[in-house]
Amino acid sequence: MSLDGIRDTLGDCTRCKLHQGRTTLVFGVGRADADLMFVGEAPGRDEDLQGVPFVGRAGQLLTKIIESIGLTRDEVYIANVIKCRPPQNRNPEPDEVETCEPFLFDQLAAVQPRVVVALGAFAVRTLLKSEQPISRLRGQVFDYRGAKLVPTFHPAFLLRSPDRKRDVWEDMKKVRALLA
Ligand code: URA
Repeated sequence: MSLDGIRDTLGDCTRCKLHQGRTTLVFGVGRADADLMFVGEAPGRDEDLQGVPFVGRAGQLLTKIIESIGLTRDEVYIANVIKCRPPQNRNPEPDEVETCEPFLFDQLAAVQPRVVVALGAFAVRTLLKSEQPISRLRGQVFDYRGAKLVPTFHPAFLLRSPDRKRDVWEDMKKVRALLA
């Protein structure tokens, strides 16, 4: 299915309780045939208001991370596991992930990126079905549905722990090499 088809299928989604508090469903943004796709967790306040993933403070850092390997946001595809903002930005609950993850899987199948960067524990857990901590998984490259998957820290975590930016830079160098 095309990205437009997936968006149409979601419609004015009421499949889980998160629809009650959202302003906007945040589907995804970027190139429909991108080689590189980023997967985050869920929209925050700014994303909920604007309907675009990663536009708040963490998003500005993600933009810099993308630019650090010579790409722009327009050249990649960005989506989240969860399409609607959880109240007070709480962690997504298992039933919400279960309900929403098929749409992310469809987005991955539509874009068919060569490299997927999973940002933070929720994205990694959803994609790899691994309960291992992100600190253990990052630094490795996984095969994922015909693509290479690179787990790394979530930019919101980097805002709290800037000393880990070096690790993300190492991960992004790997991404650049995989795309070359
Ligand atoms: N954090 C996420 O995981 N996704 C967003 O879109 C914004 C912040």
